[in-house]
Amino acid sequence: MITKILKTDDNSIAEAGRILKDGGLVAFPTETVYGLGGNALLSDSVKKIYTAKGRPSDNPLIVHISDIDDLGELACEINDNAKALICAFMPGPFTVILRKNKIVPDTVTAGMDTVAIRFPENETAQRLISAAGVPIAAPSANISGKPSPTKAIHVIEDMNGRIDAIIDGEDCDVGVESTIVDATGEVPVLLRPGGVSYEEICEVVPQTVIDEHILNSLSEGEKPLCPGMKYKHYAPEADVTVVEGDMRAVKKKIDELLKENGDKVCGVLTMSENAYDSAIILSGGTTNQNYAKTLFSNLREFDRLGVEVVFAEFESRDGYGLAIRNRLYKAAGHKVIKV
Ligand code: TXA
Ligand code: MG
Repeated sequence: MITKILKTDDNSIAEAGRILKDGGLVAFPTETVYGLGGNALLSDSVKKIYTAKGRPSDNPLIVHISDIDDLGELACEINDNAKALICAFMPGPFTVILRKNKIVPDTVTAGMDTVAIRFPENETAQRLISAAGVPIAAPSANISGKPSPTKAIHVIEDMNGRIDAIIDGEDCDVGVESTIVDATGEVPVLLRPGGVSYEEICEVVPQTVIDEHILNSLSEGEKPLCPGMKYKHYAPEADVTVVEGDMRAVKKKIDELLKENGDKVCGVLTMSENAYDSAIILSGGTTNQNYAKTLFSNLREFDRLGVEVVFAEFESRDGYGLAIRNRLYKAAGHKVIKV
């Protein structure tokens, strides 16, 4: 298949919208990560998404809208907490789980009776969804198991030849995926931390709880509420270890680890001004926001550079801290050294 690379001018967006409406697949930017979109109301396009990504079919997709009024068609039984969260965080880097209506095919929800809905804030995403005139099912536009794409070039690397078109748009601002909250029950449950922090959610619905699997690995045979959690995500080829704590102690520990691994190509992902010898250094900046924004692209870059072992500096801070920790722990297969 030849993949068209489209820009973000009106003609290109109109063309991409037609492709989607007719059942084709188009990757597009959002404020979180690039999405791999298909018409959410056509089971056949949804199946093509799973094939293009190599995604297990028991892992449901998020449905994207560009008008809050479209929510009522897709979901029902929207309780007061759900309404408050929707009102506070949509459009934005936020996904709400609601009871699904019949119109949503089972292929989208992997047979579950709930549906994940997101209204992205990114203007290109909104223009595209409006042009398509239908809700768009879209997982992150990476090959299953790879870090999510935050730049068009990452999507081209993973999806060229597998889908109809890629919108060559802006880099993603947030850099980690949307926050997912299950609002079907009396108490909302945070299933995946992301662009909206837990603290922000609690300002709207204080009784919201955090699903226990966010930072722990699952035990054999355990079934998470968010099916995506059971898969090893965001894993680069390199062997990643998180070194977490005060940045001076982190520096000391990583220096030791670099010595022990002197025979390998080592990389360090920094979150400080620390300098290291005999390692490839990629900087995540010194703020949570920048670390999140650059995390996936840094993980991809370590692979591109042939790095075998990565030590990732990390210090827990507010805001995006939980989201970063969740992604890093997964990339490291939960190999974490606390200092
Ligand atoms: O920021 C994002 O959310 C990006 C952009 C493209 O919107 N999308 C994204 O999709 O991250 P994906 O497919 O990579 O992650 C969706 C997650 C999966 O872990 C899936 O299991 C969960 O959402 N999910 C989808 N529907 C669900 C449902 N009904 N109940 C619980 N979890 C659900
Ligand atoms: Mg994904």
